Amino acid sequence: MTNTWKTRTKLVHEGTRRSQYGEVSEAIFMTQGYVYPSAEAAEARFIERGDDEYIYSRYANPTVSMFEDRIAALEGAEDAFATATGMAAVNGALFSQLKSGDHVVSAKALFGSCLFILENLLPSFGVEVTFVEGTDLAAWKSAMRPNTKLTFVEAISNPTLEVVDISGIAEITHAAGAVMVVDNVFATPIFQKTLELGADIVVYSATKHIDGQGRCLGGVVLGTKEFIRGDFETYLKHTGGALSPFNAWVMLKGLETLSLRCNAQAQTALTIAKAVEGHAALNNTIFPGLESHPQYALASRQMSAGGTVIALDIKGGQGATFKFLNALNIILLSNNLGDAKSLVTHPATTTHQRLTPELRAELGITDGLVRISVGLEDVDDLLEDILQALDKAQNST
Ligand SMILES: Cc1ncc(COP(=O)(O)O)c(C=O)c1O
Repeated sequence: MTNTWKTRTKLVHEGTRRSQYGEVSEAIFMTQGYVYPSAEAAEARFIERGDDEYIYSRYANPTVSMFEDRIAALEGAEDAFATATGMAAVNGALFSQLKSGDHVVSAKALFGSCLFILENLLPSFGVEVTFVEGTDLAAWKSAMRPNTKLTFVEAISNPTLEVVDISGIAEITHAAGAVMVVDNVFATPIFQKTLELGADIVVYSATKHIDGQGRCLGGVVLGTKEFIRGDFETYLKHTGGALSPFNAWVMLKGLETLSLRCNAQAQTALTIAKAVEGHAALNNTIFPGLESHPQYALASRQMSAGGTVIALDIKGGQGATFKFLNALNIILLSNNLGDAKSLVTHPATTTHQRLTPELRAELGITDGLVRISVGLEDVDDLLEDILQALDKAQNST
């Protein structure tokens, strides 16, 4: 473990805890509990748990610790806490810090389950939430109140890929004495150093790029040691959202190849976005790495690449769009993202079906919008697949 290691070295070695057997690949400590050498040792551990001392795997586990240390090193965070899913991470990051009477300001373009927590759950516990246009700094500023405790935003919104100004919102948040929580799934820990930009807490669904091969659910929350081992650990260990050791091991293996995969996927996404932009079957091609993206300058400043997800707005409404989706041969119809396999989803009829048509329109989720998570396949094959499906969509209108 050394601070001078570059990203790819950290992703392979950081956090490794080698057992007495000297295994090369990290061990899976598939155990619920731990044996104490004496009654005195058990008592001491319950008073204060040392770094490599464990009590019960809902609290902490050696394989999970390896994953936490490795991703904390990648993110440049003091500490991390792994969770069973991305939503357990979002839920914990919010509920561990908020109480009745607090106020939250959040971007309105959110993943459906995040929206449910902010719009339904928090208000039912007496926390007021104001929703603002994520890209409008003046709106963030005027929404702040003396009791504003927290701001919440997705670094890149799903599915319309709006890029928010992390430093700008962090400044407004801190001026109000609040903390900023960022769901960084779409920007990935490879392309954006969100804590360096000023955020206080970063949250991931590890289910996405970190696993990257469609196997396990998982999540992680990163921040200061004081927060992670204080309020967050207290909340999570008592409410039971711990990551399983097996899933932590899959995530550790995912981290080893994360940089290679994300960079390859982002390069393919950029090539595809450039190639299809302006196609006669499309109203719009949305990708933060395209100069035509409304926040291109901001995205170029904040991120080292445009990400791995493209949104296409197909002409001809739902009919033509379903033709496009059904004509794809390689890209699979599935609502996940960050996978080695390219996946496509139609938000209006799936992930965002719950929203009213008015809200969908306000968020830019048209009947023609599809979200493509670009995988690791050959770029030529993916492009050919998209172009032939666009032809079929176009011919149907
Ligand atoms: C932006 C974002 N945040 C959070 C989540 C929740 O993650 P999980 O499915 O691992 O709970 C998802 C995806 O499902 C997501 O896309």
